[in-house]
Amino acid sequence: MVRVFSGIQPSGDLQLGNYLGALRRFAREQDDADSIFCIVDLHAITVPQDPVELRARTIQTANLYLASGIDPERATLFVQSHVAAHTELAWLMECTASFGELSRMTQFKEKSDRRDFVSGALFTYPALMAADILLYDTHRVPVGDDQRQHLELTRDVAMRFNSRYGDTFVVPEAAIPKAAARVMDLQTPTNKMSKSADSPQGTVSMLDEPKAIEKKFKRAVTDNDAEVHYDPETKPGVSNLLSILGACTDRDPEVVAGDYTQYGPLKADAAAAVIELLAPVQARFAELAADPDATAELLAISAERAREMAAPVLTRAHEAIGLLPRR
Ligand code: TRP
Repeated sequence: MVRVFSGIQPSGDLQLGNYLGALRRFAREQDDADSIFCIVDLHAITVPQDPVELRARTIQTANLYLASGIDPERATLFVQSHVAAHTELAWLMECTASFGELSRMTQFKEKSDRRDFVSGALFTYPALMAADILLYDTHRVPVGDDQRQHLELTRDVAMRFNSRYGDTFVVPEAAIPKAAARVMDLQTPTNKMSKSADSPQGTVSMLDEPKAIEKKFKRAVTDNDAEVHYDPETKPGVSNLLSILGACTDRDPEVVAGDYTQYGPLKADAAAAVIELLAPVQARFAELAADPDATAELLAISAERAREMAAPVLTRAHEAIGLLPRR
């Protein structure tokens, strides 16, 4: 079975884009792949975090995955810092990635720009990410376009390690969703919907109340030619509404366009579809949030399973590179 590894920052606040573009698909594909979902708290602390908030967001992120239908019986959902092998392998990855390679990472350049404190770990971040992926003999890594360069680095490091020390790691492939599958910002529809957007009005959170969702769709940016058709190039706003409504109702946006002649009803229907789609997820989330111990227990069981999967790969890597075997 294909092994799929996916890493998610514990931001605690996932968007409609995360749900439609990733979580819903992950839940649907659980039986077709051996899926591992890792909440990457160690990556989060490469920039300063408030400890209380970090803990709360980590649990909240886990709850959003569970509420979306990720079933810990069928998939592995765990917290990165609970499996020590990640940091252990990361050191070997730091020794295999070159300084020049790490210096070329555009995400490092963006994240380090104009900050008064830049941690060393922000620079070596991709080595930890490579460790996350390679520890599980991963075949496929679903990531957004912004992580393409990190994935390339992971592949290069795996191949370099294999050629220096003998076949040790599976070289993973990136699975990057098509542009059409992307949910764009409702206010700036040429940008991907993301928490870091300029205006919160353009972003729909998975936990937004129905009223807030209605309002955001009502105010969504369209254009003035008042014609409904799907063309992301010339009509990014309208096309985004059509893709969202299409994604919610499992139809192609071109087909959805045929039902509308005006923007008003399209916006209202898109809002209603999103509200209906998120309602059961929000209800399940509320139940999970009421019992954080139960989530902690599920995470512990999954972490144990992850430790068992990771251990032989770490041993293989240690031995290949010439570390004295542990007795
Ligand atoms: N760097 C990724 C992001 O910011 C998160 C991540 C960490 C990840 N480790 C991973 C993604 C391994 C995929 C696989 O989104």
